[in-house]
Amino acid sequence: MVGAGCRDVLLTGGAGYIGAHCAALLASEGYRVTVFDNLERGYRQAIQRASMVSGKPIELIVGDVRDMESLRGAFAQGDFHAVVHLAALKSVEESIQEPERYQHTNVMGTENLCAAMEEFGVFRLVFSSSAAVYGDCGSDLATESTPLRPLSPYGQSKVDAEERIERFVSRTGAAAVSLRYFNPVGAHPSASLGECSDGPTNLIPVVMDVVLGNRRSLDVFGRDYPTRDGTCIRDYIHIMDLVVAHRSALDHTTHMDGAKAYNVGTGRGSSVLEVVDRAREVTQRVVPTRDAARRDGDPVMLVADVSRIEADLGWVATQDLKSMIRSEWAWRRAWPDGYASSRETSAAPR
Ligand SMILES: NC(=O)c1ccc[n+]([C@@H]2O[C@H](COP(=O)([O-])OP(=O)(O)OC[C@H]3O[C@@H](n4cnc5c(N)ncnc54)[C@H](O)[C@@H]3O)[C@@H](O)[C@H]2O)c1
Repeated sequence: MVGAGCRDVLLTGGAGYIGAHCAALLASEGYRVTVFDNLERGYRQAIQRASMVSGKPIELIVGDVRDMESLRGAFAQGDFHAVVHLAALKSVEESIQEPERYQHTNVMGTENLCAAMEEFGVFRLVFSSSAAVYGDCGSDLATESTPLRPLSPYGQSKVDAEERIERFVSRTGAAAVSLRYFNPVGAHPSASLGECSDGPTNLIPVVMDVVLGNRRSLDVFGRDYPTRDGTCIRDYIHIMDLVVAHRSALDHTTHMDGAKAYNVGTGRGSSVLEVVDRAREVTQRVVPTRDAARRDGDPVMLVADVSRIEADLGWVATQDLKSMIRSEWAWRRAWPDGYASSRETSAAPR
């Protein structure tokens, strides 16, 4: 069901993991979706499959959020009611190696997008932020008012991008929702869309690599944390629950003012070893593990307080860890090479 006045949506980063699922869901619910993506980390084929599973056309504009002219070109081509902004770089490790690149793409890209929205009179925005904005919350749940103390340039880039959005909102009276994702995982129920990465760093895709024999074992970084089994705890969220939150947020922008941030998680934490156990159960295969030293900047526990999103948007997560792993497993078995054959390199400026 399409929210009033919110039919045509420009989706940046729509050729990526979360973007393709978002495109599929929004298109299947009657939104007209145009993807804007430089294909640096995304796949044309992901959009084709999103279009196939939704039964709706999804247009792709190849462009770069670092380039104002390509943004202007996109806005000039459509009559957009809202923007869902997912285009960004997302690797913590890479952001430590190349912090300027993360500022440029994630922060300047967001600032450019806001400027283009202002120029073309588009004043509704849903933004993909991250739990990485919080840093270490100790053993407390992260609420939206927990102080933002990111532990990486990536997390800082999301704090800075949220702040650029707040400035845009106070300058223009726009309505914007920043969704702070916890740990998205899993795949579309058709198993034709999923996360595709040459060298995944997120726990569950790495576990799948081990199960499939692409890696010998799983490194467990630290077994002496003050948690129930000594390993770090994270809040995993099914990709389909996550994209439903985008639809709810998009609709919310039609009857709210200002800028709001919402955690998107289940509110329940799972340890590394619990994830490994669930993966063994689901796949019926062994998951060899190897103890490794703690990594710098790994919070002990990062779990969402989800009361604000439940109260304001009426959104709740519906799928548990086992169904997340089950759908990830179905996708990885159906498409062991993901979309790899259709990767394009960007001709856009860096
Ligand atoms: N996946 C996660 O674990 C996670 C967690 C929290 C937040 N997020 C955020 O969600 C968003 C989507 O993440 P994802 O997992 O789908 O990542 P992804 O890498 O699969 O998708 C990102 C998309 O953005 C595009 N892109 C990158 N730079 C661009 C640019 N300069 N101009 C235009 N397009 C560009 C890429 O080509 C890709 O299609 C990102 O903003 C990410 O920071 C992701």
